[in-house]
Amino acid sequence: MALEKSQITVLLVDDEADFRGPLARRLAKRGIDSVEAGSGQAALELFADRQFDAVILDVKMPGLDGLQTMAAIKKRQPDLEVILLTGQASAADGVAGIKAGAFDYLTKPVEIEQLAGKIRQAVERREMRQEQELEAQFRQEMQRRMNVAERLASLGTMASGVAHEINNPLAIISEAAGWLKGRLAKDQSASDELRKAGELAISKILSSVERASRITHQLLDFARKNDWEIQEFDIVELASDVIDLTANAARDANCKVELHAKSRPIKVWSDPYQLRQVLINLLTNACQAVGTQGGGEAWLSVDSAGDDVLIAVKDTGPGIPKENLTRVFEPFFSTKPPGKGTGLGLSVSKGIVEKLGGRIEVDSRLGSGAVFRVSLPRKPQVSPVRPEHGPSLNH
Ligand SMILES: Nc1ncnc2c1ncn2[C@@H]1O[C@H](COP(=O)(O)OP(=O)(O)OP(=O)(O)O)[C@@H](O)[C@H]1O
Ligand SMILES: [Mg+2]
Repeated sequence: MALEKSQITVLLVDDEADFRGPLARRLAKRGIDSVEAGSGQAALELFADRQFDAVILDVKMPGLDGLQTMAAIKKRQPDLEVILLTGQASAADGVAGIKAGAFDYLTKPVEIEQLAGKIRQAVERREMRQEQELEAQFRQEMQRRMNVAERLASLGTMASGVAHEINNPLAIISEAAGWLKGRLAKDQSASDELRKAGELAISKILSSVERASRITHQLLDFARKNDWEIQEFDIVELASDVIDLTANAARDANCKVELHAKSRPIKVWSDPYQLRQVLINLLTNACQAVGTQGGGEAWLSVDSAGDDVLIAVKDTGPGIPKENLTRVFEPFFSTKPPGKGTGLGLSVSKGIVEKLGGRIEVDSRLGSGAVFRVSLPRKPQVSPVRPEHGPSLNH
């Protein structure tokens, strides 16, 4: 039946049933489905729960006339095209209608092929406009993402510049304090009291220098411009450091974090700084997820299996809906409120893990938490080269 095949549905509004019915049937034969309304008021009521591709409106109707009905329709759905039908004698109404936003007008008696053609044109024009709108939205979104990326890049450059600038004076302070310490120890003329006070002051200087230098290293990690340093280290110790480093996020989220390690140490050859970044991202995400539920638990577990080391970060948060499972690794994918998440954490992490020859996977069901698993070779498969712009975001 033609009706079943029709893809276009129009709202056909005319007070004369004898005109409306046959017109609807003839349109149906041409693949255009009609929903009929006998008055402007009835037409507006149909809008409450139906969608139409176009509207055919008789201009001369008792009650709300065609132009008034069109104005009310355009108010609800400005992009919907309206084709007006006028009597021979009142073509001027049609011209007024076009001025008021109608797609076109036809005079009665209607030539059916012409009407069908007009309907298709009206639908096409609307679709084209919708496509253009989508394209404009897409362009706007790309622009927004580029702005974020640029901001991050300049922030990273600035952070690494500041860190380098601070590192030099820190080295001088540290060296000078070391010299003073040695000098004081050898100084026979100094009283015990002075020596003790001096040693205390110097040890305060040295521990503060160390603290400041840790901060600059974190800044450098953030900038991700530091060299890839492949070295041997204990991944259990690294995991424990990460738990310390994310303690604030865990506290804010009321998240209890536990470290599970089957044995220790578990030695690997890899890049501890990059890997630390990965674990910080995963554990921060886990805590933030747990925090959305007012609290819960997260586990960071480390294990070795053959030539690989397996790291898992598991949480009791709300989980990830199936349709997002592949998207979470996309750059800029984030469900966090604007300003809270850049959506870069997992994409950067995936880039790092793959660069180190490993894999990262997620497993989660809505309502039952999430687990991110990282497997890494215990021996490196990459040459310790310096990437020009940090790990690629295009994974
Ligand atoms: N443990 C988790 N539980 C539930 N959803 C998660 C979890 N980890 C990640 N996600 C989802 O994946 C998205 C992307 O994570 P990703 O770390 O890349 O970005 P983000 O956390 O939103 O922002 P950023 O890390 O830059 O602060 C998150 O917004 C969230 O929707
Ligand atoms: Mg994150």
